[in-house]
Amino acid sequence: MEVIETRIDTSSEEYHRNYEAMEALVAKLQKELRIAREDRSEKAKARLAQQNKLPVRKRLELLLDPNTPFLEIAPLAARGMYDGKIHGAGIVSGIGVVEGREVVIHANDPMIKGGTIYPMGVKKGLRTQAIAMENRLPIIYLVDSGGAYLPLQSEIFPDADDGGRIFYNQAVMSKMGIPQICGVMGLCTAGAAYIPAMSDEVVHVKGTGAIFLGGPPLVKAATGEEVTADELGGASVHCRESGVSDYFAEDDAHCIQLIRQIVRALPPPNKTKIGRREPRPPLYDPKEIYGIVPEKISTPYDVREVIARMVDASEFLEFKTLYGPTLVCGWAYIHGYPVGILGNNGVLFSDSALKATQFIQLCDKRGIPLLFLQNISGYIIGREYEKGGITKDGHKMVNAVATATVPKFTVIIGASFGAGNYGMCGRAYSPRFLWMWPNAQIGVMGGEQAADVMVTVKNDQLAREGKPPLTEEQVRQIREPIIAAALKEGDAWYSTANMWDDGILDPAKTRDVLGLAISTALNAPIRDDVYGYGTFRM
Ligand code: COA
Repeated sequence: MEVIETRIDTSSEEYHRNYEAMEALVAKLQKELRIAREDRSEKAKARLAQQNKLPVRKRLELLLDPNTPFLEIAPLAARGMYDGKIHGAGIVSGIGVVEGREVVIHANDPMIKGGTIYPMGVKKGLRTQAIAMENRLPIIYLVDSGGAYLPLQSEIFPDADDGGRIFYNQAVMSKMGIPQICGVMGLCTAGAAYIPAMSDEVVHVKGTGAIFLGGPPLVKAATGEEVTADELGGASVHCRESGVSDYFAEDDAHCIQLIRQIVRALPPPNKTKIGRREPRPPLYDPKEIYGIVPEKISTPYDVREVIARMVDASEFLEFKTLYGPTLVCGWAYIHGYPVGILGNNGVLFSDSALKATQFIQLCDKRGIPLLFLQNISGYIIGREYEKGGITKDGHKMVNAVATATVPKFTVIIGASFGAGNYGMCGRAYSPRFLWMWPNAQIGVMGGEQAADVMVTVKNDQLAREGKPPLTEEQVRQIREPIIAAALKEGDAWYSTANMWDDGILDPAKTRDVLGLAISTALNAPIRDDVYGYGTFRM
C-alpha cells in the first residue's frame, strides 16, 4: 500500500480559517455533552441521595472495567425536545468492556423525570437492542424507571415501533441466545416489569428495587389493598417468593458486582478473525482534518486528505484511481482492522456508481468491512446523464449497498443529500453504526435548491392557468420558510436529537471510534453465509 502524499499547506490562511471553524464546532459538541451529562435539578440529586442510590454514571463507572473505552450511543438524543431537560432521552446507553468482554449497556437515569420513558427513550431503547442483536453482544439493563411518561402515552404505546417492541425484542434475543442481564435498581413498573421478567438473569437491589405490574397507588384504587412498594415487589418478595428475581443485592454497588460476576461466567465470545495487523497511527495528525474540511459545505476538497488522517500509517491502496474519479475507493487498515473505504469527491456519475458497485461486491466477497465517508450532494442530473442511464447505474450501487452483508459503517463528514444518502449507506441501509461530524448537513436537498424547486412549481402552475408569475415578494415568502426549515432541520444537532445517527463525533477522534466499532462488529459472523445480490439492471 502507498502512503497518501498530502497537498495541504498547514500555514495557509484558508487552513487556519477552516481549523478555527471546526474547532468552534467541536467545542460546542463538548459543551453539549457536558450539559447532557451534568445538568440535573437539585431536587433530583437530593432525592437520589435520600434513597441511597448511585447516579447512573457512577453505576456505569463501577460496571465497566477500569481504563477501558465506553462507546456511548446517542448521548444528545432528545436535545432541545420536550422541556429541553430530557438529556440523552433519559437513558445512558453504549458499548463498553465488562470483565474483558464487549457488552451493550442500557441504563435509565432516575434523575431525569424519575427515569420515565419518553418517545425518544423508546427509540433509543430499540436502537440499543438493535446494536446488541446485529453485533451479537450481551446486553445489560440497569432499570430504574417510572415506566411510560404518561402525558405522552399515545406516542409511546400503540404502534409497531413503540414500547411493546422492547419486550418483543427481548424474546427474539433470548431465542438468538444473546445473554440479557437485568439489574433492578429502582422501580420497574407496569410495562417496565417485563424488562427483568424477559431477561435471562435478574439482580434485585434490596429496599430500592421493585417489580410490579401495578404500583401501590393503582392496587389501592383497584382493590383497596394497602401495600408498600417493597411489600408488593421488593427484592425479598421476588428472590424468596415469586422467583421473578435471581440474585439478592444489598445495594447498588453489590448489584453491579453481581452483574460483573454473571458476565464473567458467560461462555467466551467467538469473535471473527479478519487478518488484523499491528495497529499504526496515521502519518499525519488527525487534528489536521479541522483545517482540511472547508467551512462552507459546498466547497470541494480532496477526501484522500481525510483518509490519510484516519487510516493506519496513512497507507491506502486505491482502486480504479483513474475511473469514476468523483468517488474514491480503496483498501486500508484502521487500528489494524482491514476496511474498504468509499469517500465522495464530488457528485456521483454513472462511472463512479459502477465503480462503487464493483468495489462493494469485492469487499463483501472477501469479508472486509465497508466504511462510507459521506459528503454527497447527490447523483448527477440532466438529459445527457439520464440518457446515459444514471438512474440504472445509481440503482446498482444502491442495490449493492443494501444487500452487502459485511459490517458497514457510515460517517457523514459533510453533505448528505438526496439519493446520495442512500447510495452512500445512509441510516435506511443498515450500517452497523452511523455518525455525523458537527459540520454535517442532511436532507432531500439543500434549502436553496428546495426553495427554487417550489418557486418553479408555483410559476409553472400560474402559467398553466394563464396568470402572471410570482412577484418578488411572493417568491421571498415561498423561499424563506423553506430555507429556514432546511437549515434548522438539516444540521447535525437536529439529526442527533432525532437519533437519525448514533452521535456526533469529533473528526479527530473518528478513527478511534471506528476501531472500537469494528471490534464490536466482529462479535457477529463477518457476513451471511449466503453471498448474493438482487438483480442488477443492466
Ligand atoms: N409519567 C410522568 N411523569 C412521571 C411519572 C410518569 N409515569 N412518574 C414520575 N413522574 C415525574 C414526577 O411527576 C416528578 O416530576 P417533577 O420532578 O417535575 O415533579 C418526577 O417524575 C420524579 O418523580 P418523584 O415521584 O418525585 O420521584 P421519586 O424518585 O420519588 O419516584 C418514581 C420516582 C418513578 C418511582 C415515582 O414517581 C412513581 O412511582 N411514578 C409512577 C410510576 C407508575 O405508576 N408508572 C406507570 C406507567 S407505565
